[in-house]
Parts: sequence; structure tokens; C-alpha cells
Amino acid sequence: MKFFLDTANVDEIRQGVEMGLVDGVTTNPTLVAKENRKFKETIIEIAELVAPGPVSAEVTALTADDMVSEAREISEWAKNIVIKIPMITEGMKAVQRLSKEDIKTNVTLVFRVEQALLAAKAGAYYVSPFVGRIDDIGHDGMEVVDEIIEVFDNYEIERCEIIAASLRHTDHVKQAMLLGVDIATVPFKIFEQIFKHPLTDIGLKRFLDDWEKVKELV
Ligand code: E4P
Repeated sequence: MKFFLDTANVDEIRQGVEMGLVDGVTTNPTLVAKENRKFKETIIEIAELVAPGPVSAEVTALTADDMVSEAREISEWAKNIVIKIPMITEGMKAVQRLSKEDIKTNVTLVFRVEQALLAAKAGAYYVSPFVGRIDDIGHDGMEVVDEIIEVFDNYEIERCEIIAASLRHTDHVKQAMLLGVDIATVPFKIFEQIFKHPLTDIGLKRFLDDWEKVKELV
């Protein structure tokens, strides 16, 4: 499974890249707004930090024509930029046009399996079901991910990768792995947490303490 960091914070991305095992980054307008920086310079810096891994940057236009123009411009900023397009009718028109121009898209705000199939059919390179937001309304977000995996398998859809998004805790990451999802995009805090276990720290301390007692003899 690939790990993407779900953040627009360059310090977090720098730390994640140093830790290794980061395969890409996803952003959205909310994450970019939190940083209080210019969108273009933020995305360019992220793209440099994570290259050659993909960086998803979202359009904010609402018509297919405007989305396509915005996507063309953003995709010029760096080779590894993927354009995030919302799962709306105009968005799917834009995805079809962008796919013909070889501009990669990540269809976002996906909440049901049918939406994922339409996105893949339109030519999306990635599809992002929002697990946590589905859980928030009392349904099971991972069940939707599971259904997407099954339906993509039924129709032998290999060109469109599934990104488990809106992950809120390490258990979501574990469930994503058990389902065999292609990619999990995680906030930096969760990425740090999945490296850790209290017994690892306790065990390491005990090894080092014991070593202190005998190291003179070695
Ligand atoms: C994914 O690409 C989105 O940026 C993100 O996972 C949304 O997560 P949230 O529901 O925690 O805002």
C-alpha cells in the first residue's frame, strides 16, 4: 500500500519525506487555506519536496470549461501535479476532457460506489472515497471502500487507483491495508502514529538498560 500525506503544510511534508515511505501528497482547499499562503507557491514547494511522487491540487471552478482551464494552468506548475476534481456532473465532463490531454485527475468527494465507477469510466487516474465523513453520518466508510475494490475488480478496472481518504485514526489505516486498498492518504499526525507502539519503546528501553549493565564485558 502506498502512503500519501493529506496536508498542505510543508514542514510536515518535509518531516514525512525525511522519515521515508511517503509516496505522495493530497491537498484540498481547506488544507491550503489553513496555511495562509499563496496557493501556487505552496503547491510548487510541495511538488518539489515530494517529487517524483504525485501531489493532488484541487480546482475550485464549477463548470467543466472553467475546471479544464484551471487544471491546464495548475498542471503546468510541476510534472508531478494531479488535478483534484469534485464528483459532480461538470467535474466528470472535465475529467473526460483532461484524460484525453493526459492530465491526471483525482476525483474527490466520493461517498458511494456508483460515483467511483463513474469517475473511473470518465478516465480518473485516482478516486478518493472519504471514509471519515461517511462514518460521521452514521454509515460505514470502509464498507464503501470495500465495495469500490470489489466493483473495480468485477470490471477489471486497473487504471484507476483507489485512495482511502478522510482517515481519522490508525485503525482506519489498518482496515485500509486489510482491504488491500491501493493508497491511504493520512494526516501527518496519523502517519507518525503508525510507526509507533508503546511496547516498542518499552522493549527498546529494556534492551538498552540491560546492555548498559554488561557492555564493559563485551
Ligand atoms: C483527501 O484527499 C481529502 O483531502 C481529505 O482526506 C479530507 O479529509 P477530512 O474529511 O478529514 O477533511
